[in-house]
Amino acid sequence: MSITVRINGTEHRLDVDPEMPLLWVLRDVLSLTGTKYGCGEALCGACTVHLDGHVVRSCVTPIRRAAGAAVLTIEGLSPDGTHPLQQAWAELGVPQCGFCQAGQLMTAAGLLKKHPRPTDEQIDQSMAGNLCRCGTYPRIRAAIKKAAGELP
Ligand code: FES
Ligand code: FES
Repeated sequence: MSITVRINGTEHRLDVDPEMPLLWVLRDVLSLTGTKYGCGEALCGACTVHLDGHVVRSCVTPIRRAAGAAVLTIEGLSPDGTHPLQQAWAELGVPQCGFCQAGQLMTAAGLLKKHPRPTDEQIDQSMAGNLCRCGTYPRIRAAIKKAAGELP
């Protein structure tokens, strides 16, 4: 079965099992390896992407759910790494090992789309499902606030 999905602005016709997780399609079929595999059970947030503007866990999203939809991954967040969040992340040196950070950024981007000036509570609520075993949480929060201050 062929499934058409728009990924980071480019349309792809995919000949894959409709139940294949979106994460596998991104990483194994399209070599978009910025999106990470952590738990495979919607528990860690490492695989977070946007599906038609909504934050989703791609490890538990079958590709059939993305048929005809638009997917945004970390590779498409900005053309050149200059999204306000990416700039704030770099300026504050947020990542440690880096493994969770694409997911953190995609969740944070979803948060700022909904709440351009998020409160601490909104940040905590939105980011709660994104785990970081390196404990970069204080820097993530600071970077979200910095990026929010730079939004138009
Ligand atoms: S890999 Fe998807 S939430 Fe952990
Ligand atoms: S930076 Fe290492 S898991 Fe988050």
